[in-house]
Amino acid sequence: MPTVTFRGQTIECEAGEKLRDVLLRAGLSPHNGQARWFNCKGFGTCGTCAVEILRGQVGPKNRREEWRLDFPPHDRDAGLRLACQVSVTEDLVIEKHDGFWGHLVDDEGSS
Ligand code: FES
Repeated sequence: MPTVTFRGQTIECEAGEKLRDVLLRAGLSPHNGQARWFNCKGFGTCGTCAVEILRGQVGPKNRREEWRLDFPPHDRDAGLRLACQVSVTEDLVIEKHDGFWGHLVDDEGSS
């Protein structure tokens, strides 16, 4: 079973499970602040579940993810992925950055 490590916790999951679902099931969230309630619930349209994958490999972006990460406040070159569109197939270590969308990758002290 692959694992996801986030905010000091390591969670086991089924291979192929969506990263956002893994986090929510563990009582964690890929959303910051008010985005925990105001988000698209995993349809890949709001962009608030963006995370950085520090370790581990995931598949290529699908069209929806490409589309959402291609317009502000996201930047296609920021290296973020949408947790609701990413399937977990191997052990991952992820980080959530600051900002409503988790898009402030250059800021110190990410949440
Ligand atoms: S939850 Fe909205 S894009 Fe992932």
